[in-house]
Amino acid sequence: MSKLPGSTGISLLGDKSLEFYRDPITFCERRIEKHGSRIFQARLLNKSTSFVCSVQGMKELLCDKSSVFLKDPTDVMTYMYGDNIVTTNGEEASLLRLSLMNLFTGKCLASSSDYITSVCERSLKDLSSSAEPQAVYTIFKRLGSELVLGLFLNIKAEENPEAFEEITQLCTLHWHGIISAPVNVRIPMWSSGFSTALEAKDKLMEIIKEKLELEQEGFVGCLRALPLPDASCASQHLLLFISALIPKALASLLTSFTLALCGPDQEEARARARREPAYLDQVLLEVQRLWPPFIGGRRIASQDTTLGGYHIPKGSAAMYVSYGVHRDPEVFHQPEEFRPERWSGRNAGQEGLLCTLGNGPRNCIGVQLNHVFLKAACGYLLQHYDWSLSPSDQTLQYKWLPVSRPEDPLMVVFTPLRDQASRQPQDSTRDTCTHTQAEARKNTND
Ligand code: HEM
Repeated sequence: MSKLPGSTGISLLGDKSLEFYRDPITFCERRIEKHGSRIFQARLLNKSTSFVCSVQGMKELLCDKSSVFLKDPTDVMTYMYGDNIVTTNGEEASLLRLSLMNLFTGKCLASSSDYITSVCERSLKDLSSSAEPQAVYTIFKRLGSELVLGLFLNIKAEENPEAFEEITQLCTLHWHGIISAPVNVRIPMWSSGFSTALEAKDKLMEIIKEKLELEQEGFVGCLRALPLPDASCASQHLLLFISALIPKALASLLTSFTLALCGPDQEEARARARREPAYLDQVLLEVQRLWPPFIGGRRIASQDTTLGGYHIPKGSAAMYVSYGVHRDPEVFHQPEEFRPERWSGRNAGQEGLLCTLGNGPRNCIGVQLNHVFLKAACGYLLQHYDWSLSPSDQTLQYKWLPVSRPEDPLMVVFTPLRDQASRQPQDSTRDTCTHTQAEARKNTND
């Protein structure tokens, strides 16, 4: 068993949190090159941390040794969102997952599919009406918020615009509290961003509790019917599900999809994705590989163990870095290139090697919902528009934290697809929706 390459230095002074949070990609790339290893150590959040940037290391961390590497109950998420599944471990986590999964699979998921289709249609139908370039991330984030608040709280933007705006703003304030926390101080009670966030959280909890008292139907009704351990569990989880993080993550993926298939160079890829649902799946896998919305996830070693053959001491942290894992050249040939075809060639059947939505027994419980949503939104864009950058010389540099996206607002001009004959089959919008609904129905049996 060898020593993990890199150094964790001494407490506080050796901390590299600022360097990591400023530019996590350069942070990892420099160390991978320096140590000649895709697993290395450094001090993060003042804790010895192993950074995992290889597919094999990620699988070991999240799957094979998931009972050794545990969620951190002292994570800042707990302070902002209260007790919920994200920072829970052991049997409690397994039981919660079993219960909550019901909301995102089967009948519940199938019943969401019409709403998802209608929100996509309403939010995306006017993209070409002004012929002006559109700031796509903002549009997609709003679409994500409409989806989340409509599905989970039954607050529909078109029916109840004031409540929708109020809750969206509260969710944003709440979320800003998390990212305002200085990385080396866990609870900055004195920070104004943090106290504003706590006020926003209190207001959100009031709204959520009222909903839980009054509503019998829909998602809230399903949630109430679940066997949950205590009375506050449902409200805590609703707070988590309506977090601003989710619309941001959805907007991140839609923005990256739009960018990946942008302009005349990608005309053929757009036409193929329009015609072939299987190819669209490959495009979406490649988008998730290259531009995962979240940088990764963190665990704590509950005992002395190993990762990739390196010694990992009990109590130290381990973090998988999705960006690094997805560019592991051992698995992904020419990893920097956008090549959807890899998913029907060399990497066919290897979607399980991605960690965009986590991996293993603690992966994202919204996996299927995300898939239905992405297919609906990207399907709508493809069936109705062509698009290109405007202006064409934008800086496309990505930022990776807190959620990945192009640093400058990505401006895109959409033109309606006039040539109906190019749409295949005859009415492909209906076809894509039908496909999405069929998938949701298929999931009913999962
Ligand atoms: C594009 C959208 C999304 C992305 C990129 C995403 C990503 C992730 C990732 C990476 C994890 C694993 C974190 C870790 O390993 O520590 C995770 C877990 C989780 N996600 Fe998502 N997620 C998305 C949407 C959703 C949605 C729509 C929901 C439900 C409303 C959801 C609920 C959860 C929950 C509850 C967990 C924790 C599971 C557990 O700890 O057992 N996510 N997600």
